[in-house]
Amino acid sequence: MSEPICKVADIIYVRFELIEFEAQKKYFNHFGLMLAHEDDNSIFFRGSGMSPYVYVATKGKENKYIGTAYKANEYSDLEALSKEFDVDIVENKDPGGGHKVTITDPDGIEVEICHGMSPAEPMAVVSKVLNTGQSKQRENELQRFGRASAEWEVEGDKWVYKLKSNVKRLGHTAINVRDAKASVDWYSNVLGFLISDDVIGPDGNSIGAFMRCDQGDKAVDHHTINNIQLPGDEYPGPYGHSGYEVTDSVDDLMAGHYHLTTLNEYYHEWGIGRHLLGSQMYDYWRDTHGFTHEHWTDGDLLDASIPENKASFRDVVMAQYGPMTPSTFGVTMPVDQIDKVRAEQPPLSALIKEMEKAAQLSESNND
Ligand SMILES: [Fe+2]
Repeated sequence: MSEPICKVADIIYVRFELIEFEAQKKYFNHFGLMLAHEDDNSIFFRGSGMSPYVYVATKGKENKYIGTAYKANEYSDLEALSKEFDVDIVENKDPGGGHKVTITDPDGIEVEICHGMSPAEPMAVVSKVLNTGQSKQRENELQRFGRASAEWEVEGDKWVYKLKSNVKRLGHTAINVRDAKASVDWYSNVLGFLISDDVIGPDGNSIGAFMRCDQGDKAVDHHTINNIQLPGDEYPGPYGHSGYEVTDSVDDLMAGHYHLTTLNEYYHEWGIGRHLLGSQMYDYWRDTHGFTHEHWTDGDLLDASIPENKASFRDVVMAQYGPMTPSTFGVTMPVDQIDKVRAEQPPLSALIKEMEKAAQLSESNND
């Protein structure tokens, strides 16, 4: 493979357009992101980590995903991209500053590559020590989260668990693509992404990949982007989900789950479970516009020496443990339509059974 134009270091933020901001501000407050900055035309949310923001929305005529931003290692990466795509390097006027170029991927998703952003002051976090069957590290110290049983409060006619997740950072986006090979090649050749898992469909063709940043001997998240060509003739739109890493392990994820569950205001998409590809423990929630956001923790870290693995669609859909994947997973749709779609379409696990059966049949026909 020829050298890519650049090798991005990490993901920074996702960009959306929204008609109005109040619903999103309320949702992210419950989801565990903090409002970092707002003005008449934009809202910026951050986590407890060093990125000035991990989500930005500007005001527009519709609610839509615009794209994703990545961090360049060197200013010369912006120069190389500027030359290749004939776009200007511009000053980043948003929080953190620095410079950026904006290009477009094969599915029309805006890709911003940023350099020189000033880091935000990370928030102080006290990590909990967990005792396990194999390892007992905590003695003479009681494990208490938040205000312990006082976290449960009565609001109206329901008990609400008040402790939220604390998002640390954005870890990845999952995008739907029209042509798996075109998308995977583009992210490899332009941004230097490596394939962690090539996802092979039952017919033997790749339907996408889980891709990570190439940072040499520095281990990075198993995937920073997941490009998937979903089965079916109709393109469901580019946005799958954004995956936010919580600050402190499993309890941080579980607290967020019970906070959002007991609030009973948002659509729970999928979870809690443990992915196979990337190994994260996950929990997926929809905002009021139908966009899916994931809380995750305990993901695999791989350096550039780990070779590409061949995985199946079953490996994507069937978690190590967790509920069956709903048929709506990966597709953005208005929240009030989800129950109807789910009632009409069996979970993705049933589809896998059909796809595997069809593949077996065509194999035996070929014998
Ligand atoms: Fe994810």
